[in-house]
Amino acid sequence: MKPIIETKRLILREFQKTDAKNMYALNLDKKVLKYTGDKAFKSVEDAANFLKNYSDYSKNGFGRWSVFLKSTNTYIGWCGLKLNEEGFVDIGFRLLQKYWHNGYATEAAEACIDYGFGTLKLSEIIGRAAIANKASIKVLEKIGLHFWKKDTFEGVNEAVYYKITKKLKNENIYKNRR
Ligand SMILES: CC(C)(COP(=O)(O)OP(=O)(O)OC[C@H]1O[C@@H](n2cnc3c(N)ncnc32)[C@H](O)[C@@H]1OP(=O)(O)O)[C@@H](O)C(=O)NCCC(=O)NCCS
Repeated sequence: MKPIIETKRLILREFQKTDAKNMYALNLDKKVLKYTGDKAFKSVEDAANFLKNYSDYSKNGFGRWSVFLKSTNTYIGWCGLKLNEEGFVDIGFRLLQKYWHNGYATEAAEACIDYGFGTLKLSEIIGRAAIANKASIKVLEKIGLHFWKKDTFEGVNEAVYYKITKKLKNENIYKNRR
């Protein structure tokens, strides 16, 4: 399958049936799900059904994407954009624990933001995280999102919302070039 995004170390491509085992394993880890409000899949078949019914690509033209290490073609998790239930496009990421702390989430998410503004012509992208989810908030800040508000979202009572506009992103690129 053709990659959607390629970075220095990573390939992002659309979900496919063969990701079921990996997605099941990802959501089996309580540490991965701790701050997300997500639930574990009941079985590999449950994950396969999720993938079969995943309609974001056909509905919105974008979605979450599976992330692989370019050097070994190893699955490490997912990252991508989602038109959420509040009508905002949000950036999200989940990685298998053994790949944390290598800068992969930052690298993947930054590329998704560029894709969102450059290819998809979005004007704004938000990020939401549990207040306690320091790693996630750090990633949002490192890719240029700014604190917007405290609120709640599905399954998370104490959350922070961050956002970035295309205008702000372009201004920052301009500032960094001077
Ligand atoms: C959030 C997540 C994707 C980050 O992945 P990652 O590849 O380790 O992230 P990166 O290495 O790109 O960056 C993480 C940053 O957070 C920092 N960080 C990690 N844990 C931290 C903590 N407990 N407190 C403060 N900072 C922390 C890291 O030091 C790093 O910043 P630095 O590069 O300036 O040192 C990963 O931890 C994960 O999958 N968590 C479970 C799922 C999840 O919570 N997703 C987000 C839901 S909103």
